[in-house]
Parts: sequence; structure tokens; C-alpha cells
Amino acid sequence: MQSNFLEIKEKIKTYDKQIFVDGDKSISIRWALLASQAIGTSTAQNLLNSEDVLNTLKCLKKLGIKILLKGKICKIYGAGLNGFDFKKNLILNAGNSGTLGRLILPLLIKSPFKIKLVGDKSLSKRDFSRIIEPLKEVGVNFYPKNKTNLPIFIKGNNYLRPINYLENRGSAQCKSSIMLASLFLPGQTNIIAKKSRDHTEIMFKNLNIPIKIKKKLDYDLISLLKPEKIKKNDINIPGDISSSAFFIVLTLLSKNSKLIIQNVNINPSRTGVIKILNEMGARIKLLNKRKINNEECADIFVKNQKKIKKINCHPKLNSSAIDEFLIIFLVAAKAYGVSTFRNLSELNQKESPRLKIATKILKMMGVKVISDNNSIKIFGNPKLQINKKIEIKNYMKDHRVFMMSVIAALSFGGNWKIFDPESVKTSFPSFMKIIYKLNGKVT
Ligand code: S3P
Repeated sequence: MQSNFLEIKEKIKTYDKQIFVDGDKSISIRWALLASQAIGTSTAQNLLNSEDVLNTLKCLKKLGIKILLKGKICKIYGAGLNGFDFKKNLILNAGNSGTLGRLILPLLIKSPFKIKLVGDKSLSKRDFSRIIEPLKEVGVNFYPKNKTNLPIFIKGNNYLRPINYLENRGSAQCKSSIMLASLFLPGQTNIIAKKSRDHTEIMFKNLNIPIKIKKKLDYDLISLLKPEKIKKNDINIPGDISSSAFFIVLTLLSKNSKLIIQNVNINPSRTGVIKILNEMGARIKLLNKRKINNEECADIFVKNQKKIKKINCHPKLNSSAIDEFLIIFLVAAKAYGVSTFRNLSELNQKESPRLKIATKILKMMGVKVISDNNSIKIFGNPKLQINKKIEIKNYMKDHRVFMMSVIAALSFGGNWKIFDPESVKTSFPSFMKIIYKLNGKVT
């Protein structure tokens, strides 16, 4: 039987390397969903081959969409708006993916039959009322009534209405869900959205979908009109900054090491991690900046930083670094002084209750931490060195908890046993390959 854990007993040695990380997950999922609604065949290069994306393709195939995937090149034969072709009693499985679950529902709002949406154990615990409530207002039916999590049935309606929607969590999933619904709604859909990643907006503009955006300081005012049709979308998907973040931090914390991560998406709505780490004394550089499909991309250069400063992290940065806090906390653990991160209750709404789990792991590492449901204070120790056994298990197979633990082990030493290594397949299948390329000793 394959062992269900890996062991790390040695810090990583100095390296000076160049790597690529896998394609961006948010862009891969959005591309596939929108390509299914297009007229014509869309092609993606460098599509992320992770479970979340493969589940997206599986759901679309079940909805009658023809898809060819060869390595990282994917062709989707769009069926046009509302062109899905499927039979009664359809069950769609979003697996572990909140993004897929929340972004596929709006594509089903005209379905004449009930469709069941299910997910894995982790996704079934997550809040779907944030999508269900606005979609009910649009005129969509959900069963059982009053249920706020998966599994759930959705049944569409031919008499739908546009809404005025206030998104004030800073959730791109919520914003994007209503944006995708607007593709099927008569009249004008208006969204007031707290700043969050804007890949859907960029893709809508690229596809000439009628969208107007007024940018205010903290919010964007987005108005949308139903398009007549959506054109095909050929795209080249850059590397994922959320995946890069693990190697940025490993390099920052590893004596004399240097790293270039090539061709990463550095959309400003995603670069909170770079701003936060630079404020903590890192000197991360973005080289060869260019635009691909109107998304900003660059090569990221990072090197080891001996002196890390504490941070009082401004909550304004939360949404643009939401998936990176686990790994940022490791940097705070090595800082001079006490770092504070606030307004982070959303972290407990992710694949696992991440604020709670990070607190536990940091404490196991011997780091002093004070946290509640919303915030965390990390008492940094610039001399942090782990000399004991640490076992990481029962964390709901959260891919980012696994990767955070591997980076902690390789950065701070100790004798680690980390369970469920297959969890990386969700978002970053080549994570371990890169660890080996950097000569990380893992058994
Ligand atoms: C995502 C948005 C974020 C993020 C998730 C991907 C997206 O979630 O945590 O991993 O692709 O829109 P929220 O919008 O719920 O914050």
C-alpha cells in the first residue's frame, strides 16, 4: 500500500535556480466555464491540470460540451449561451473546488430540470448561501429550501430578472457568480463589489461582453448587459502566483538561496503577498513585465532575506493575498517583533478552517501565537529552529495546509511527518517535483 504521508528531517540546502509553476487556477476555471458558452472552439495553452480544473471539465462534459485535453492544451467546443444539452437527474460534482461550485451554478439558472450539485467532504461544509441568496433573488429555485451547503438541487426559470447586488466580503467567487448569471438576465445587472481578484472582468472585456466598471477607492461599480453571443477565447495561461508564493517564501527563508519563477500572473488584485513580504523586508522583484490576454505577467526574482521585519498587515490587502496567508504566517514566525493580521474570518471559510489550523501548526512549531476567529498575532523569533517531532494530519486534506507544512519543515528543520501528500493535486500537481528540483530531501 502506498504510504499516506511523507517525512522531512532536513532543512533544504542553498539553491540558485529557475522554475515554472503550474498554470493559474482562477483563470483556468473561468476560461473553461466561459468557453462552454462561446460560439466556436476555444483553445487554452498551459491549462492547469489539477483536480479542481479536471472536475470543471468533467462537469462541462456532463452538460454536453465536447472537450479535448492533451497535456496542458485544451480545446472546448462551445455550445453557445445556454447551449448545454443534458438529461434529467444530472449530478455534477465540484469535488474540492469552491470556485467551481460557486461559478457553475449561474450557468445553470435556465435549466428546465433539477440538477444536483455535490462536492467532497470539505466543500460540503462550506457556505453556499452567499451564492444561493442572490441567485434566488434573480428567480432561481434551490432545494431543499433553506439549505446553505452542498449537496443542493438547482432548478432554473425562464422568467429571470436582473438584480442590484452588493458584494461586501471581498469575494471574487461571489462577484463572479453574479457576473456569470448576468449572461442570461434581461436588463442591466449592477454589482457593487469590494475589491477582489478581477480575472472575470478582464475576460468579459476580452470577449466584448457589455461591461462597465467604475473603480472607486474600496469598491468597484460594475454594470453588465446580456450579450447576444460570446466569441471563442484563445488564451495562454500564466503561472499561478498562489502556487509561486510557497517557493517565494521557501527562498526567503533559506540561507543564501535565490530563485526566479518564470511567467507568473501578477495581476495587481493578486499581488498582496508580494506587497506584504516586501513590507516585511523581502526584496522581491518583478522582471520582464508584460501583458498576456490583458493579464499582467512577469518573472519573479526572490532571494534569501536574513532580517525579516514584523508587519501590522492592513486589512485592505486581505483579499489580494487571501490564499497566501498560511505561507505569510511562516515568514512572520521568523520576524523581529510581533506581527498582526486582522479581519481574516474568511480564512476559516476555506477548504479547511485555515486560521484555526495555522494557529495549531505555528504553536506545534514552538511559535507564540494569540488568535481568535478573526485575527492572529504572531510573536516572531528570528532564531526559530525546530528540533522536535511534528505530525500534521486531520486537516481536511487542505492542499495549502500540506504545502505550508512542507515549506515549514524545509525552512525551520525538525522531524516532520506530513499526511495526505496527494492533496496537492487540487491546485498544484507539480509542487513535489519542484521541491525535488531544488534538492529538498523528502522521503
Ligand atoms: C477564488 C477566489 C477566492 C480564493 C479562491 C479562488 C477565485 O475565494 O480563495 O481560492 O478564483 O475567484 P473567495 O472569492 O471566496 O474569497
